[in-house]
Order: sequence, then C-alpha cells, then structure tokens
Amino acid sequence: MRKLLTASLMAALLGSTAAAAQSDPLAPTGRWTAYTAGRATTPPMGWSTWNAFATAIDEEKILGSAKIIVDSGLAAKGYRYINIDDGWALKRRMPDGKMIIREDKFPSSRTGGDAPSFKAYTDKLHAMGLKAGIYSDLGRNTCSEAYSPTDDDLPKGTVLEREVGLYGRIDQDIALYFKDWGFDFIKVDSCGLRDYAPQAERVTSGKFRALGPFLDSSEVMRTDIATIQGMFRQINTALVRENPDGDYLLSLCVWGSANVRAWGKDYGGISRTSDDISPAWGRLLVNYDTTVTRSLYAHPGSWNDPDMLHIGAGDFDADHLTEARSHFALWAILNAPLLIGADLRTTPQSLLDIYGNTDLIAINQDPAGNQAVLAHDSSDLQILVKTLSNGDKAVAIFNRGSGDYDVDLGANHLKFADNAPIELTDLWSKQKTSFTKRTKLHVKPRETLIFRAHGTRSLQGGYYLSEQPGSVNPAVDGIVQPTPDPSIFRTAAGWGGTGGPGDRPSYAGWGGARADSAPYGQNLQIAGKRFAAGIGILANSRLEVRNGGAGRFTTLVGVDDSASDKTSDVTFAVYGDGKLLATSKPAKWGMAPQSISVPVAGVKLIELVARSPRGDNQRLPVTWGEAALLDR
Ligand code: GLA
Repeated sequence: MRKLLTASLMAALLGSTAAAAQSDPLAPTGRWTAYTAGRATTPPMGWSTWNAFATAIDEEKILGSAKIIVDSGLAAKGYRYINIDDGWALKRRMPDGKMIIREDKFPSSRTGGDAPSFKAYTDKLHAMGLKAGIYSDLGRNTCSEAYSPTDDDLPKGTVLEREVGLYGRIDQDIALYFKDWGFDFIKVDSCGLRDYAPQAERVTSGKFRALGPFLDSSEVMRTDIATIQGMFRQINTALVRENPDGDYLLSLCVWGSANVRAWGKDYGGISRTSDDISPAWGRLLVNYDTTVTRSLYAHPGSWNDPDMLHIGAGDFDADHLTEARSHFALWAILNAPLLIGADLRTTPQSLLDIYGNTDLIAINQDPAGNQAVLAHDSSDLQILVKTLSNGDKAVAIFNRGSGDYDVDLGANHLKFADNAPIELTDLWSKQKTSFTKRTKLHVKPRETLIFRAHGTRSLQGGYYLSEQPGSVNPAVDGIVQPTPDPSIFRTAAGWGGTGGPGDRPSYAGWGGARADSAPYGQNLQIAGKRFAAGIGILANSRLEVRNGGAGRFTTLVGVDDSASDKTSDVTFAVYGDGKLLATSKPAKWGMAPQSISVPVAGVKLIELVARSPRGDNQRLPVTWGEAALLDR
C-alpha cells in the first residue's frame, strides 16, 4: 500500500504519463511490447547439430546435412538456418579473450594468421542460400563442460581458457560472432548460471571457477530472474549494434526455468519452454505440454520453443512413423521452430518426406502467427485448432495414450457454423471429406490426425481474440508468484532415471493467461454463464491486442467462477492507443457478466486492463468472455 501511494504521488508530482507507466505496470503504453527485433516473423526453420551429434561435430558432418537440405528441396521449402550447437570452441585465448575455434574439426577456419575464423564457413553457407547459427552460454562455461561424459570435445587449457561462455564478454563475443564471423543466429544456453555453484564438485576440484548460481531449474524460488533478464538485455543491445541490417535471431535456452515462459517473449525470437527433448514418447509429451497451453505467449517475432525435432531416432525413427508424424504435426501446429535434429546423410526418405510436408510447413509458417489453441482437453486426447490468415483452420486430433479412440469432431471445435458444410483436407493423405455439424474420426494410439478445415465462421463479421493469439500479448499476466505448472506430463524417462524421487513439477507458468480457458484450466464461466470463447487471465493484468482494421471491440466481462477470492472488486478497462475507451462497473465473484462494446476504427493497439487494488491476483481469475474484434 505504501508503495502504491508513493508511486502515484510521484506520478502526480511529475505530472508525466511516462512516470505513471513506469510506476504502474497496468497503465496503458499504447504500444506492442513483445519482442519483434531480429528475423522471426515466422518460426525459424533449419537444422542443428545437437540431437544428431552432441559435441562430436565437424565441418564435414554439418556441410553434409546442409548440402542435403539444399539438394533435397528442403531449403526451398523454408529450412534455412544451419546451427552449430555446443562443441565448436577450443578455448578463449588469453590475455585478449578471443574465442578460438577447434580448427582440426573445422579446417576451413584456418586462416594462417593470428586466429581461426568461421568467416569462410559462413560465406559458404550464405552462398548456398542458407543462414548460419552459433552457440554460447550466459555463464562462463557451457552445458557440455558440465555434463559431457568425456573431455574429448571440450575446451582445453587453463581454467580461464576454458571459459568460453558470454559472462563478462558479451560485447566482445557478439561482435566476433556476428560482425567478424558473419553468423545470423545465436542460441544462448544457461548451464553456466546453474551448474557452477561454489560447492559443486567440478568447482571444488579446481577445474572451473564458481559462478552464482543464478538459476535453479527445479526450484523457481531460488532463481534470480532479474539478473538473467539483464544479461539478455545486454545481448540484445550488442546484437543490434553488430547487425545494422537487423538480420539476426536470438534463441533463449533457459529450458522453461526462471519463469521464462512468462517473459521469454519479451527478450528473444524463440524461447525454450522445457528441458531437452530426447527420442522418447514421454519426453515429447513433457516438451509439448510446456508449450500447448501457452498460445498467448507466442507471436510473430517471439515463439515458444519446445526444443528441436528428434525425428530420426528412438521412438521417432523410421520404424515409428506414427510417432514421427505426430511429432512433426504437433510442432507445426504449435508454431514451434522446425529445427531438424537428424544426420540427414543417413536419414531415410520416409522421414525426409515428413520434414518436407509442404502443407504442414505452410500451417507452421502461416503469416498470422497464431499458435494452436486447445479446443478439447483431456489427459489422453486433445484437439488443437489454429486459425490461419485466410480464415481456414488447421485442426490436430492428438491421441497421447495407448488406446484407440473414436472421436467426434464438431463445428463447435472449429468455431464454424454448424448448419453449413465444412471441408476437411487430410494433410498427410491429401484426401478431402466434408461434414456438417459433427463427424466421427478414428485415431490410433500416439497418432495425430491433422487437417486443414474450410467452413463458415460461427461469428459473423469478425474474430474472437482467442482465435488470434498471435495478436494478443499478456504484457502483465497478473502472476505475482511464479508457480510450477502441475498439468505438465512428468516422465519416468527423465534425466534422473527411476532411482531418485521422480520428475517433480518444476516449470513455472501455472495461472498464465489462456485462450478459451480459465488460467487454471477450468472452463471460462461468469455467474454460471459458460463461454466457449474468451480470454482467461488473473486480475491485475494488462493485455495488448493488435487491431488489424476492425471497427468494434465487444466482450462480456466479470470475475471468473473459478476465483476463490470472492470478495474483491475488479474493474475492467479498455484503451485504444493509450486512451481510455470504456470502463466496467466494479465486478465481484457471482455478479452477472457486464457487456462492453466500443468503436475501435483507426485504433492500432487495444489494451485490456483488469484492475483490483485489494484483490489477491492468484485467487482472482477474470474472464474477457467472447472478446471479439468485429468489422463494424
Ligand atoms: C543444453 C541445451 C541443449 C544443448 C546442450 C548443449 O542441454 O538445452 O539444447 O544445447 O545444452 O550442451
């Protein structure tokens, strides 16, 4: 309370809206604040070394796969980034700190001069029409330095020479990687902030210097989020400075820890939502689950990253085409980066065909940038629907479990009218079928049916906001205390094996803003009235909504029935380009929804603020029911 008074007093004294915005996160800004720097207007596509080779990388392996990407036609379909992951660094030269490449593995880096350079390598990729990616870490050391079973591929030399991460070296390294060496993409990992605590054996043994830890991936409460964000801000400043043409892409690799699922969208082009994928079905479920409820946190310029594709190995190899196809279909509809993780030199045609499915690539790369939203949600079967830029829908029916399912797919799932025909195109077989109102489908264990659907919209003359999550940014989602999300699958095939205590909830994000769902997963509902469409978010939140030319915004607002704070008032306000357009009366749990309808013609950015000065945000979900942008 004291803080609030001081802040508003200060704003009044200064009389400036800038000061008000600084002190009040719910004050409208009139601008879209999610990340749009760099080149990620659609999810990046390409190839990465890690899943196929770990640190056992060399130029021949990489260029071998790059050549197949071009020769097979995959490059022409959009696969562009060829990314070197961990394992390229020999050492940091002392005393000038210049990074030295393992030139025995990258012969083209030999310059005969002062130090090896990747310039010839990136020139080669660029000449092939491709882009080049590199890898580093926020800390002084990388993940392989902490986890590799052998020293073979690891940096060599003294303790200081083996410090190949960005910590304290951001400006120097980013200039080298982007300006001198010509890279276009950087993945920034985080083990250096987590695994080098003073008491860690690798530190007490004298092998590495201690740092932090700033990060605890199993306990968000022990994470220094502000420090991590500060480092990414510095990296961004350096990227802008070294890339005057803006051709760069920053990939955040904080694995869903540090509550990054709430703020990654503000700091980079893609952001990992979970720990590493492995070629195991259980691990796919974990990574998928960390992204699937986060549609509102993905936008053109800032995508959720459930990790690289693992098609080609284990449960996703050529003997498991059902699983491999599910993996690709799900990543495509979730707007995940499509980064191939296989050695393409040995990948069978049946799997290359999966990577090359142009219809699925088109779903992933659709310019509207709407991540799919859950239209049916249960632990074993889910229906995901993604609104495409021409009004068609992509729909995936995902059987997570081990039993067969007969599924009813309805016009309601698609937000299509149930009295007009709906045409389905199967994106694997290309077969077309049509139905009205409801159709029966069969889905086998671990299978994902995926279609493009064309029909008549049930909402005439406009879109629900929940159909266009790519244009909605939960700038402030009301979460005060990041809490692990208990709904994410936890697999016994995890890193600790089954000997330990098991895979406990660790990825924060519980209570985040949701499309067509209340923040904790219930149906949207105000005073007993159910909403099939809408945005669920906690109180004391601010949503930014891009308006692509609509004339009117309409919604029915109130405290959601799932709120356990039954006494606090919430006031709903709608702003257009920073100016107040409408306010509700104070609403409380159990009060009927209030209608808001305001003209927004000419408005570029709408902001939706739900304010409750005395409310307990995390016990106070609110609903923007049937929130829609209409032509008139
Ligand atoms: C971490 C990342 C992986 C990979 C390895 C490299 O585990 O999450 O994607 O980059 O480090 O060591």
